Amino acid sequence: MKKKVHISQCAELDILFEDIVSQYGTLILPKGAVINEYIIQKLKEFGIEYVYIFDRNREKIFPDYESFEERFDENIDKIKYLMNEIIRGKKLDYNELNRITDDVIVAWDNPEYVMNYLKKIHDKDDYTYYHCINVSFYSALIASYLKLPKEEIKTVIQAALLHDLGKVKIPLELLNKKEKLTVEEFNEIKKHAVYGYEIVKNDDEILDAIKDVILMHHEREDKSGYPLGLSGEELSIYSKIVSVADVYDAMTSNRPYRKALTPFDAFNEFVNISRNNLDIRIVNILTSRLSSYYTGSQVLLNNGEVGRIVYIPPHCIQKPVVSIGKDFVDLSKEDNISIIKMI
Ligand SMILES: [Fe+2]
Repeated sequence: MKKKVHISQCAELDILFEDIVSQYGTLILPKGAVINEYIIQKLKEFGIEYVYIFDRNREKIFPDYESFEERFDENIDKIKYLMNEIIRGKKLDYNELNRITDDVIVAWDNPEYVMNYLKKIHDKDDYTYYHCINVSFYSALIASYLKLPKEEIKTVIQAALLHDLGKVKIPLELLNKKEKLTVEEFNEIKKHAVYGYEIVKNDDEILDAIKDVILMHHEREDKSGYPLGLSGEELSIYSKIVSVADVYDAMTSNRPYRKALTPFDAFNEFVNISRNNLDIRIVNILTSRLSSYYTGSQVLLNNGEVGRIVYIPPHCIQKPVVSIGKDFVDLSKEDNISIIKMI
């Protein structure tokens, strides 16, 4: 799975297998960072000689991105079918849910494929199903970094896949409304948590932990959430993980009433707005771990130039270093330059 290499043998696009920490204990590069020339230079400056990278010769479940995309497009159809069947009163097909769960677990063997898939444009009417798959990707990432046991990671993923089940009962014209929602309309959408719970509560095969997430993924640490106004102490780790993943995906997705935030704007806003109402430790895990996977992404800057992210400093993930031609622009030192779009 992992291979130790001298940094002179690191190649572009190798993926770091574990965190690189300085002799003073500060994080230099997180696990998952994609290696490039800039990073190799940086490691040399820190006196790092050897690193562990993912062994690219290992057997791959998904040989290329096309096969990955095809599989997850099928999974979108499957989750859509599963959710609609449950709404119609059928029992949950657990075998099918388990198969999708296994795909989500192995998906992170190829983080570049996951990141690419998360950018996929989809029909707005299918938003709920893509959202559930996206939230399961983020939840799997958080759960694995929390080092939850394998069975619990599966539970988190399944809870994420089903968390918005109740949305299937909400009229699409309400979910896709461009104009500001009235109080009554917003209250109707909020009911999806209870609708979902009502549908699954008598299904003995569905774990109580999953039923709780369906009911509680909009509860907040400071009791400001719905439907019950519970406090952080009353929420399970599963609910906390899915809540964070849910909010991040909502912020970074295009919606009929607003455009998606870039991940870097979302990191900034996410930490600020969620300080009191989401579990900040989980927010920090998601943002720090996810940020490393944006290395290598092409971006459009507000000065019109197109660049490529070469380094994301762990202490300031919202301000990456971007290469433009042969120059490097460190956004943490340029107040007037920012990323306005991921390409
Ligand atoms: Fe929801």
